[in-house]
Amino acid sequence: MVVFRKAEEGDWPVIRQIAYETWPDTFGHIISADQLDYMLDLIYSEKSIRNQISEKGHHFILAKLGDDPIGFVSYEKHYNSEPQLMIHKFYLLPVFQGLGIGRKILDLLSKIGIECNDCQLRLKVYHKNDKAIGFYEKYGFKNIGTETTDIGNSYSILDHVMVKPLLSDGTN
Ligand SMILES: CC(C)(COP(=O)(O)OP(=O)(O)OC[C@H]1O[C@@H](n2cnc3c(N)ncnc32)[C@H](O)[C@@H]1OP(=O)(O)O)[C@@H](O)C(=O)NCCC(=O)NCCS
Repeated sequence: MVVFRKAEEGDWPVIRQIAYETWPDTFGHIISADQLDYMLDLIYSEKSIRNQISEKGHHFILAKLGDDPIGFVSYEKHYNSEPQLMIHKFYLLPVFQGLGIGRKILDLLSKIGIECNDCQLRLKVYHKNDKAIGFYEKYGFKNIGTETTDIGNSYSILDHVMVKPLLSDGTN
């Protein structure tokens, strides 16, 4: 059975490892290898993860099957001082995709959002990540526009912004 728990400082190398295993499979055909390496280093260095948690207020959850970590998600409550829960990162190891675990994680995030009085889930997804976009649409997310982020080193990222209302009766 898959279980979810809050990720602690000791889990950061595992989170980085999952990202390094998942990103080439997810983005290898749509983002150049140089940009991928740059982004992994930018986002998953120990310093960066520490900053996301202690300065930006991100929370990380680790998904485990028995003793084995198989994925992670990070989120932020009350994003932009609005009643919305922002999903910042969402990655399952390739062999554990397509088994219903992603849906369970969105159910968990919906519950967390409702408990902290947030009214919607929000996320950004790379515009060419069709597989993830299809998954989010299946769950009820709607595309509300695009956002371009300059990530340095002459790279920029074009994302779709997607949202889904949270229903307090739990019928999400
Ligand atoms: C995207 C991701 C988190 C989804 O999790 P998952 O465990 O693979 O998805 P699930 O198996 O829970 O799918 C849930 C439902 O969505 C459907 N679905 C999944 N992908 C779909 C797609 N591209 N189009 C339509 N439906 C899709 C499934 O059929 C399933 O439907 P069901 O509940 O009726 O059976 C996971 O595949 C992943 O980690 N992908 C790589 C990393 C990534 O792209 N992350 C997102 C970054 S923004």
